Amino acid sequence: MDVIGQVVSLKKAGSNYKGLCPFHNEKTPSFVVSDAKQIFSCFGCNAAGDVFEFVQRHYSLDFPATVEKLATEYGIDTKGAQYQSSNKDELYEINREAARFFYKSFLTPGNPATAYMQGRGIDSETTKRFGIGYADGEWDSLLRHFKALGTDVKLLVSLGLVTESKGKHYDKFRDRVMFPIINTSGKVIGFGGRALAGAEPKYLNSAESSVFLKKNNLFGLNLTKQDISKENRGILVEGYMDVISLYQHGVRNVLASLGTALTENQAKLLKRYTLNVVLAYDADEAGQAAALRGAEILYKEGLKAKVLQIPSGKDPDDYVREHNKSGFLELADAALPYAEHKLEAIKKKYDIADTDGKLDFIKEAVVFLRTLSPTAAETYIKMIAKDINISQNAITLEYNGNTIERIEKTNLSKSAKNEDNTGKLPDVLEKNLIRFCILSKDYFEKIQSFEHAFTSRYGYEIFKSLEAYYLQGDGSDVKNVMDSLDENGVKIIEDILETVFFAGKEEQIFADCIRKIESSGLIKREKEIVQKLSMADEAENAEQIDILTRELIEVQREIQRKKS
Ligand code: GTP
Ligand code: MN
Repeated sequence: MDVIGQVVSLKKAGSNYKGLCPFHNEKTPSFVVSDAKQIFSCFGCNAAGDVFEFVQRHYSLDFPATVEKLATEYGIDTKGAQYQSSNKDELYEINREAARFFYKSFLTPGNPATAYMQGRGIDSETTKRFGIGYADGEWDSLLRHFKALGTDVKLLVSLGLVTESKGKHYDKFRDRVMFPIINTSGKVIGFGGRALAGAEPKYLNSAESSVFLKKNNLFGLNLTKQDISKENRGILVEGYMDVISLYQHGVRNVLASLGTALTENQAKLLKRYTLNVVLAYDADEAGQAAALRGAEILYKEGLKAKVLQIPSGKDPDDYVREHNKSGFLELADAALPYAEHKLEAIKKKYDIADTDGKLDFIKEAVVFLRTLSPTAAETYIKMIAKDINISQNAITLEYNGNTIERIEKTNLSKSAKNEDNTGKLPDVLEKNLIRFCILSKDYFEKIQSFEHAFTSRYGYEIFKSLEAYYLQGDGSDVKNVMDSLDENGVKIIEDILETVFFAGKEEQIFADCIRKIESSGLIKREKEIVQKLSMADEAENAEQIDILTRELIEVQREIQRKKS
């Protein structure tokens, strides 16, 4: 009853309790809990079971985690795990004592941490709520405190409260504002210590230990989990101060990762309280990149992530102080879903006004779209199509991986002689063709009808001089063609004569060359069609798109045939 009552609002109905089922969507209650039998069941979706089943399902936990949760929150006996946790309990207790110690210092009049927090607009009610403390500037205040209590120094070292150097022990946190990090079961697992007066590093965290695993915990969640559940939304920020400041301003469904990139386990933890997360990271580039990575992790864990953008380079703390709760919530409500935000970020990299820019954008966008579910991908394909005025078909083709290399201008309209090819050297195919042209007039004549295969400047020039040579027909040495070439041309032809040999397989190699030319013609046509398709406005050119799509399919089939 207690456990389920936290999640479902239950009303007495006869000897049982009734409420809206948390495992499926419904408007009239069909979820029944029997206090006497200690079971629940739902007539709507047939979910049923005991308290373990409920916790396991509702918080998406595995069985051991369920047992642990119930054990820590309700003192349910779990026998076996006893020994291991006794040492942990000792460590938690030391951390709690340290938190008390820091908190007392924070309350001493005239200490710099209190002044600092006041200066940042944090009131005493909030500092109390978060248990904010002060580690004074001495080298051993905390150490002496614990020695007086008879605490084993080794344990202090293992928690990272005390540092050991050359056999000496001293306090790790000195002259810092101390933020206790408390897990959802209310245990103090570690601290974040913020430097006063610009000392480095700005933040110092407790060492990772058996009780403090950054990757498994989130800052603030101990205080805000109910608000997150109730509002069915969590605001995820980067900094301790962001959490504290938003909380004070009434945005209470807030939490932060612990100064590291968001982890899978943190996403799982958050998932127990809500599926909806708004990432409110700093406006700078690093913050935005981190938000995208975080959103991706949340998305993979099945949460719905949105990314909020704070205008003019501010962080959430600055923003809420200036614009209050309502201003901040406006931003949160306007946050873009993760995928939309990601697509916006990709789009920014390209000049969409330019055709090539558009195509490059689509190429990168579809790589991302393939990581989404097919339905999500389809939605975004529609959105992009509208947004940049390109047919949905074309983007879908690209998404399905049917296409193709970047559409090079040279392939579209410019001939082989064009200046764009000045620097290009003959490729293997051209070299082979030149070698065939030199080999015999027969081959030359066959190659004549594939003149367009010479796409490099020198390949084309050499071919043309060979043509002149054969047209003259004076029977002189074929090597005379070199006379009409410049220095580079001569080098190239010498290179071909030295390196290209067919070793008695002329027929076979020649056939291969021709096949290559033919299919490269097809590939060129394929690119042209895709280009046209991508330019065609969907609504207006439905017929043209249809024709082009049919031709594209034909061309692609032909290419496949040539390959096999
Ligand atoms: P303020 O600068 O006081 O507003 O702090 P903030 O909480 O807004 O922090 P900031 O945005 O600079 O950084 C975000 C989070 O990254 C912090 O809350 C820390 O958890 C972590 N962080 C920042 N600087 C450091 C550092 O120097 N060392 C470590 N370990 N963590 C840091
Ligand atoms: Mn800040």
